[in-house]
Amino acid sequence: MTIRAVVRGVGHYLPDRVVSNAEFEASLDTSDDWIRSRSGIERRHLAGPGQTTADLATRAAKAALEDAGMQADEIDAIILATSTADLTFPSAATMVQANLGMTRGFAFDVQAVCAGFVFALTTANALIIAGQATRVLVIGAEIFSRLMDWTDRGTCVLFGDGAGALILERTEAAGTPADRGILSTDLNSDGRHKDILYVDGGTSTGTTGKLRMEGKEVFRHAVEKLAETAHAALEKAGLGSADVDWIVPHQANIRIIEGTAKRMQVSMDRVVVTVQDHGNTSAASIPLALSVGKARGQIKPGDLIVTEAIGGGLAWGAVVLRW
Ligand SMILES: CC(C)(COP(=O)(O)OP(=O)(O)OC[C@H]1O[C@@H](n2cnc3c(N)ncnc32)[C@H](O)[C@@H]1OP(=O)(O)O)[C@@H](O)C(=O)NCCC(=O)NCCS
Repeated sequence: MTIRAVVRGVGHYLPDRVVSNAEFEASLDTSDDWIRSRSGIERRHLAGPGQTTADLATRAAKAALEDAGMQADEIDAIILATSTADLTFPSAATMVQANLGMTRGFAFDVQAVCAGFVFALTTANALIIAGQATRVLVIGAEIFSRLMDWTDRGTCVLFGDGAGALILERTEAAGTPADRGILSTDLNSDGRHKDILYVDGGTSTGTTGKLRMEGKEVFRHAVEKLAETAHAALEKAGLGSADVDWIVPHQANIRIIEGTAKRMQVSMDRVVVTVQDHGNTSAASIPLALSVGKARGQIKPGDLIVTEAIGGGLAWGAVVLRW
């Protein structure tokens, strides 16, 4: 008998305000054509002044609970992947816990930047396998717009705000690749690359800071490392590229998504793409894409999904799961 963490519900939330590429032309030396052709991004949602990461996360969590037909008090743990928690502490996850009216169980944040959701899913899976929790709410939520240097055209046009959430539940299974649920995970990081993608603030500066990135360098690492980690995760599950129904990648740049799919020998009609509508929402991008992919009718029960992501650290990884 094998324990599997199976997806019971999924949901997302996007702030109302949509900003088109053209809006940046008024304040920056940029163009819709440049942004589309270099990144695939056409628009992004930005949080309003009063909105917090915990607010976005709570909306996504409620949508996932509704999809699962569950109440908050049936959840044992909340893991929230974010690099834009509202306060240094307490965690945004405990704020979500309070917003949901959940007074038992435990909640904490995971911070692995754009790879955060893959790290959070892996942590949730491990908690379920270890018998620490039966049902885990896993959320990715970000307000990256608060980290932008709005004078830096090389970064501020690429990011957006949003949240997505999944509910995982413990089940007993046969232990084969045909099982539903998380089949394998692969996590990596290499702190030597901290200077190519970071935020220049924190306790060392006493400020929140702004995002700084060497885009070309990040791009160079991304395609290679994403394809490697996806292959490693598939291999651990005893599967290969031909078994994949959907790649649900971190949505940073269409050229990275296409390059990774090509290396994996998976055609683009088996990739869920939302980057054109959301931009890069960091740890929120995979659960957003899972939720949108399901709503579009792309992702169906029994589908074999590979999620893969890379972000600051560098930190990267992949999860193979059967929906
Ligand atoms: C950022 C990125 C889109 C830039 O694309 P690129 O093809 O590498 O472009 P370059 O960096 O070579 O820049 C080319 C030129 O465009 C300019 N440029 C940068 N942003 C611009 C913008 N928004 N509009 C117009 N020109 C821009 C640069 O200043 C540079 O000009 P220069 O040649 O005069 O110096 C690309 O490198 C990328 O997506 N990298 C990965 C970023 C990422 O996904 N990070 C998150 C990972 S989680």
